[in-house]
Amino acid sequence: MKTMLNVALPKGRLGEKVYSMFEKAGYPCPSIKENNRKLIFENEEAGVRYFWVKPSDVAIYVERGAADIGVAGKDILLEYEPDIYELLDLGFGKCRMAVAAKKDFHDDKSRTLKVATKFSNIAGNYYRAKGRDIDIIHLNGSIEIAPILGLSDVIVDIVETGTTLKENDLVVYDTVVPISARLISNKASYKFKSQQIDELSKNLEKLLEEQA
Ligand code: PRP
Repeated sequence: MKTMLNVALPKGRLGEKVYSMFEKAGYPCPSIKENNRKLIFENEEAGVRYFWVKPSDVAIYVERGAADIGVAGKDILLEYEPDIYELLDLGFGKCRMAVAAKKDFHDDKSRTLKVATKFSNIAGNYYRAKGRDIDIIHLNGSIEIAPILGLSDVIVDIVETGTTLKENDLVVYDTVVPISARLISNKASYKFKSQQIDELSKNLEKLLEEQA
C-alpha cells in the first residue's frame, strides 16, 4: 500500500489556492471540490489525505503529528513558534506584520506604550529587541478600533492592502516583518516519510519556478 501523506490545509481563500497548487504539482483529490461540509478527503492513488482546518490551527496539527505537512502563514509560525520544519516559502498569502497608529501619534518614550494585538508574542519580541517597555492588550479581532477608542496607543497587526487601516484613519508606523504562506513538516514525519515529503516539496518548488 502506498504511504499516505496527511496534509493540513488552511480552510478558506488561502486554502483553495494551496489546494490548487498541490493539484497542479501532482497531488489531486477531486472529491475535495464536492460542495459539502466534509473536512477530510483522500486520494489513495495520489497518496494524499487532505484536512481542512482553521488557518491558525495548521501548525498545531503538524507539530503534534496529526498531519505530516501543512501550509501556514509565517505570522502563525512566528507567533506560536511550533516545533516543526519550515520547508518552503510558497510566495503567496503575502502581507506584512506592521505597527500602526493614529496619524497624530507620537511615541512618548517616558511612558509605557500600550499595544493592542492578536500577535502578543511577535509584538513582545519586536519591542523587547528595541528595549521599549510595553503593555500588551491581547485582542481577538477588530484590532483597528483599539487606538480609536483609546484602548491602546498602537496596534501590531497584519496589513495586506492597507484598506482596513485607511478606512479607520490609521497609518503604518513601522513594518515588523514580511509574511507569506509556508510549507511546514512534522519533524518525525520528515524522517519517516522523507522521500514523499521531499518529492512533494520539490514538485511545489518546480511549480513555483515555472510560475515565476
Ligand atoms: C486582517 C487584519 C486586518 C486586515 C488587513 O484581518 O487583522 O484587519 O486583515 O487587511 P487589509 O490591509 O487588506 O485591509 P482578517 O480579515 O484576517 O480578520 P481578523 O479581524 O480576524 O483579524
